Amino acid sequence: PDDVGILALEIYIPKLSVSQEALEKHDEVDTGKYTIGLGQSHMGFCNDLEDINSLALTVVHNLLESYNVSPAEVGWLEVGTETIVDKSKSTKSVLMQLFTDAGNSNIEGLDTTNACFGATQGMFNALAWVESSAWDGRYAIVVAGDIAVYAEGNARPTGGAGAVAMLIGPHAPLVIDRGVRYTHMEHVYDFYKPNLSSEYPIVDGKLSIQCFLRSLDTCYAGYRDKYRSKYDSDFSLETGDYYLFHSPFTKLVQKSIARMMFNDLLTEQDPDTSETGKYAGCDLFKDMTLHETYENREVMEKFKKLSKNIFTFKTDPTLLVAREVGNIYTGSVYGGIASLLTGVTAEELNTKQLVLFSYGSGLAASMYGIRCQLNQGSKFSLEKLINRHKSLPEKLQSRTQLLPKDFEGVLKLRETTHHLPSYTPVSDLSSLYPGTYYLENCDEKHRRYYNRV
Ligand code: ACO
Repeated sequence: PDDVGILALEIYIPKLSVSQEALEKHDEVDTGKYTIGLGQSHMGFCNDLEDINSLALTVVHNLLESYNVSPAEVGWLEVGTETIVDKSKSTKSVLMQLFTDAGNSNIEGLDTTNACFGATQGMFNALAWVESSAWDGRYAIVVAGDIAVYAEGNARPTGGAGAVAMLIGPHAPLVIDRGVRYTHMEHVYDFYKPNLSSEYPIVDGKLSIQCFLRSLDTCYAGYRDKYRSKYDSDFSLETGDYYLFHSPFTKLVQKSIARMMFNDLLTEQDPDTSETGKYAGCDLFKDMTLHETYENREVMEKFKKLSKNIFTFKTDPTLLVAREVGNIYTGSVYGGIASLLTGVTAEELNTKQLVLFSYGSGLAASMYGIRCQLNQGSKFSLEKLINRHKSLPEKLQSRTQLLPKDFEGVLKLRETTHHLPSYTPVSDLSSLYPGTYYLENCDEKHRRYYNRV
């Protein structure tokens, strides 16, 4: 099949949020640390009514309904998540409830886990299914969902919560570029969750940032090589139209663009470092190596300045969800697509080339490309995707904002109850949007039952 890619995309962000500015005051850190230093405005979170299964139920239900897809038309469903409520029973199996009425139990795919990367692997698996001999002509769905919460301390403001569901198939408006993706995986303990009864990770923040940037360097080099082989032309930051990243906090994304520009300098044959050149003032840096510069502030500051315009025009439009909701882990980079769709017209996006960088600690990372096409008149077009996301900015603005102390109370409640048997959530249903699935009860045998507001 031709032009396999994302036919439709749906994002679900919980209704509760907390202001990062208010958190700075509450946590008694320097003014600006979370808002300017990390680049975050608000953080989304959920109370005890929601878990990974309910998030996935909500977003898949909404995807099918809003794009008018029958549950019988789905043949593959995979969930990327690191929010685990059961070591054996998959969230995918819970989602099968949405397909029962249509009599469809013939759906392959399960859950895929590695920190924030699971959904990207899920996407690759879905693409492989559609391109394989096993494909029966039906759609695939990939779910990217997580509840990102951290123990009290400096990582806490980098939490978030949300889910994205994507419908995958041929003749898509967002076509995945074949043959130019590049992956980097290695064994490292930068962020992991060995305590299976806790929602909190063990995180080495500084190491995780270094791992992220190192993976970016490797993936970018590999991506450029593959691009050259396929298209017989060089790739640099100027080539792509939009750059989308996994975003733990948006400041790291700005640093990522700067880092890519530093990569461009190191690989360009004869970089123009003259006063009016693209790399003005970079003579000092052009003989440096990637390896020795991860902690080099001078390099970072210089390339942040040089790449400012690229960041403003090619990446900032993809950061609405990341800035307003925080790190939604597996869904983060796909929230970038949702964000981009809120600020462009179909004509503007047509023919544009997106480059995505997905990172999951532990670690697994990939860079790959998406080509946009109008697909006018088709059931799945750029225009439909854009229309579906028109109200997202307003919806994010009108969430229920809780005070930091109440946010902490909610996290405490989750901490003490999220894995309990014989538990009925105590939070009020008004904390959910109409149509949201929620945990009604977890019985004495840890069986979870869901309902819809
Ligand atoms: N005004 C403006 N900026 C400020 C201020 C202020 N008042 N105070 C601090 N800053 C800046 C700092 O200079 C720093 O920016 P810089 O790195 O560009 O210099 C930034 O704010 C953060 O301050 P730090 O002191 O570095 O923050 P801290 O070490 O307390 O925590 C960290 C940051 C490590 C990212 C922490 O939040 C964390 O561990 N998060 C989870 C791990 C994570 O997200 N890793 C990313 C990849 S892995 C993943 O996705 C989970």
